[in-house]
Amino acid sequence: MNKSIHPLISSTSVRLVMESALTARDRVGVQDFVLLENYNSEAAFIENLRRRFRENLIYTYIGSVLVSVNPYKELEIYSKPQMERYRGVSFYEISPHIYAVSDNTYRAMRTERKDQCILISGESGAGKTEASKKILLYYAVTCPTNDHMAALGDRLLQSNPVLEAFGNAKTLRNDNSSRFGKYMDVQFDFRGAPVGGHILNYLLEKSRVVHQNHGERNFHIFYQLLDGGEDDLLITLDLERNPQKYQYLVKGNCPRLSSVSDKNNWKVVMKALPVIGFTEEEVQKLLNIIASVLHLGNTQFGEGEEGETYITTETQIHHLSKLMGVDGSALGEALTHKKLTAKGEEVTVVLSSLLMLCLPDELYHSSKGSSVIGLLDIYGFEVLQHNSFEQFCINYCNEKLQQLFIELTLRSEQEEYETEGIAWETVQYFDNKIICDLIEEKHKGIISILDEECLRPGETCDVSFLEKLEDALGGHPHFVTHKLANGKTRRVMSREEFRLLHYAGEVNYNVNGFLDKNNDSLNRNLKEVMCQSDNQILQHCFRREEVIDQKRPEMAATQFKNSLMKLMEILMSKEPSYVRCIKPNDAKQPGRFDEVLVRHQVKYLGLMENLRVRRAGFAYRRRFEAFLQRYKPLCPETWPNWHGRLSDGVSTLVSHLGYKPEEYKLGRSKIFIRFPKTLFTTEDALEAKKPEIGCLGVLYMHVCVCVVIVIQSGWRGMKARRRAKRRRQAAELIRRFIKGFIYRHEEYCPENEYFLDHVRYSFLKNLRQNLPKSVLDKNWPTPPPLVASEHLRRMHMRNMTLKYCRRVQPEWKKQMMQKVEASKIFKDQKDSYPQSVGRLFLDSRLEREQINLKVVQTLGNDKVQYGVSVIKYDRRGFKPRPRQLLLTNTFAVLVDRTKIKQRMDYSAMRGISVSSLSDGVFVVHMPSEDNKQKGDVVLHCSHVIELVTKLAMMANKVSYVNISPGSIRFAVARGKEGIIDFVRGSELKVAKGKRGHLLVVSQRLY
Ligand SMILES: Nc1ncnc2c1ncn2[C@@H]1O[C@H](COP(=O)(O)OP(=O)(O)OP(=O)(O)O)[C@@H](O)[C@H]1O
Ligand SMILES: [Mg+2]
Repeated sequence: MNKSIHPLISSTSVRLVMESALTARDRVGVQDFVLLENYNSEAAFIENLRRRFRENLIYTYIGSVLVSVNPYKELEIYSKPQMERYRGVSFYEISPHIYAVSDNTYRAMRTERKDQCILISGESGAGKTEASKKILLYYAVTCPTNDHMAALGDRLLQSNPVLEAFGNAKTLRNDNSSRFGKYMDVQFDFRGAPVGGHILNYLLEKSRVVHQNHGERNFHIFYQLLDGGEDDLLITLDLERNPQKYQYLVKGNCPRLSSVSDKNNWKVVMKALPVIGFTEEEVQKLLNIIASVLHLGNTQFGEGEEGETYITTETQIHHLSKLMGVDGSALGEALTHKKLTAKGEEVTVVLSSLLMLCLPDELYHSSKGSSVIGLLDIYGFEVLQHNSFEQFCINYCNEKLQQLFIELTLRSEQEEYETEGIAWETVQYFDNKIICDLIEEKHKGIISILDEECLRPGETCDVSFLEKLEDALGGHPHFVTHKLANGKTRRVMSREEFRLLHYAGEVNYNVNGFLDKNNDSLNRNLKEVMCQSDNQILQHCFRREEVIDQKRPEMAATQFKNSLMKLMEILMSKEPSYVRCIKPNDAKQPGRFDEVLVRHQVKYLGLMENLRVRRAGFAYRRRFEAFLQRYKPLCPETWPNWHGRLSDGVSTLVSHLGYKPEEYKLGRSKIFIRFPKTLFTTEDALEAKKPEIGCLGVLYMHVCVCVVIVIQSGWRGMKARRRAKRRRQAAELIRRFIKGFIYRHEEYCPENEYFLDHVRYSFLKNLRQNLPKSVLDKNWPTPPPLVASEHLRRMHMRNMTLKYCRRVQPEWKKQMMQKVEASKIFKDQKDSYPQSVGRLFLDSRLEREQINLKVVQTLGNDKVQYGVSVIKYDRRGFKPRPRQLLLTNTFAVLVDRTKIKQRMDYSAMRGISVSSLSDGVFVVHMPSEDNKQKGDVVLHCSHVIELVTKLAMMANKVSYVNISPGSIRFAVARGKEGIIDFVRGSELKVAKGKRGHLLVVSQRLY
């Protein structure tokens, strides 16, 4: 199925490898297949692999995918110095290597804080496990550690021999073939040190325990135990050293391996078990189980006359009951249970899974908040002569991994295009969802149909399963059977086969054994016996709850499907890198490159599809600065340095190089180049330029280095001299200070001058920050000797006063002046004065409209400056009459409503008398001989202080104000005098008193 999506190319970091590929391409092919001009040609692909393989260059990239060809010999490329070479180095700077992938993944995890995973796949013997071990070793050697971490790193490495002993076996294809898929994740703390991890196993080939093909072996652990175990141990386990004595070890007729020493490996495993967390007792229990499996293999069954089954080898049962810690008769009964006898071997099939269950999932503690690198060592697509249930599961697993690859690549590609602002271009790619659905879809998929057939009552067999498939899936574009196929296909298919059109190619599966293998269940009686065992490992494997639970356990294929789903979830949350392993020949020989075999793997690993996906769109992309840095010698404007914006620099460079618009695009921070050809031409130009820039460059570099050295040494010298000078000065200063402190109480002298000056200076500095903020604040710090502190204080006060005065508004100034005059006149003279201080003097006590218009007109140009209501007392008889007293600039008038009763010119005014008490009575003394002025006037006003102050000021006769303590005399007509007596009383009263005096009683204020 073809779909339109956006262009896909390799992920950022890996793409960077192109430049190293550029330099090396003429030497040995291309280091990145993305640079293959003819990227659609399988022949060109294989030729590139072959050329490099011949030169022992076993690694080549397809963007982020590392293709690794098994060299079948030790290469000098895995040493510690090699690890150092790849550590922290950009991907593109160095030739392809498994360490580059490891390092790149590790750095991406640290810098992007995103979990990573490395997916390793390939045929059996292609080098997956070796690759995963190399990655682990790289992390163990290069990651930061302390003693504790080193122990964890050790666990990480030590888990491998144990896993291999229990899960690896010699096969025809590989002397150390992993018979299970393995996902291992390594956790790193915030410093990048390994702190924990997990291991998950998939699809252990259990059947190997009971059956091995000719030339193959059982799992290594059996041979290791027999070969390496001490005599005492074998006696306790009731075992003999000769493997030929055991049914389960003789079937392949291959007890020993030339390439592997079981004895040595036994030692390694025994050393590793405690490291990964097994106690001594647990190791013993584990060995008991391994021995039990061998004894079970030697258990013989016989058939009685009535068809009942019995065990012919009693000693075996005895050994088994002892080793497994179960009741012998119960075990015998369970083993001879009717249903089991037909397939006696089933028992051990299940027991074999114990071997894997014995391995702890959690090899070292896990910590929250850590980042993870996952390693998946899993079988690649398998296409054998006869493909059975196992190949079906394996290939299904690879379909899922391909789906993940497409999804994750798309996602990262899409993100990069978006961030770079590059327009989308659609490309075709093969979406394998249709095949995944065909296999896994609920109710309709092959796995569901298989489960149904296993559970269906009545006669079921593999062929009936095939028929069911034909009924349900006939017509599906990726499913064919002999019956459904056309003539041509039919010829290459048997009647018991169905064909799936996988993304990598077509595979025929033989249905024989599908139902049995899917059923894979263990008899209940046997489970019950097992869960009563006193061996805690067996107890762990056969849980009582599970035995009691009536529910049928899930079928093998469904279990595998579910565990795959979980694995996909784990991988989806991570940034993937891929290692695709290829086996160059079947003979495990170094230097042999079997083209047919390699082509087969290239096809089934989907490498051409990988390349196509990665080459779609743009073949190459690089950050502006890196591109400019590399190619700047090719353009006079960018050489030797470009000082403008990077994008402009790249633009200038490519237009100088004559790139056509369709050949490249500029993103926000990267240049995208569509064809490798464009880049090769640029690279060739750079090569041609190298001698020139080489000489220039060397000269330039030489000059630069010299200049730099001169500047550096000059600058360093100056800095050192400055530093020394500062130190000298500081020491001198400290010395003077201490001396000054000692002489501080002496007269000012050279010994203490610095200290005393400093103290004074500090005082002044401190004073500056703590000066009083208002005139009312009387605080002042205590001065040291010889500081004119009092003088400073006065100056500061004066300054504050001045500042205050400057801020005063004219209105307020007038008020203040009047208040000052009032103070001069009345302060300490009149009882009512203190009360008046806080009250403001008003401009007038009469509103404009309160003054009669006629009066205003009569006054003409003499404007009323102040008006107030008063009471006038007749000089004779003292009759009170309400009047208004209006002050102009030159005279005052007494007004009776509309009439001006008396005019008092200031110039003629002789004085103003007030009492010293709190009353408001006052007398304005005017000449009586002048008819116009009409003589003295006795008045009373509630605002006497204000009125008298204003009147005195206007008349400019402040000194004429007379304050009399007891009485005031005033002139009455024709030389006669009147007297006003002032006394204190309970309340204010103005009345005629004795002897014709006016008596004024004032309230006592205090
Ligand atoms: N990089 C390598 N350098 C040298 N020898 C290697 C390398 N990779 C693999 N080999 C050789 O190939 C053998 C098979 O490799 P390995 O066990 O890793 O294969 P595999 O892909 O894991 O196979 P299986 O699927 O059977 O487990 C190794 O035992 C080793 O001898
Ligand atoms: Mg392996």
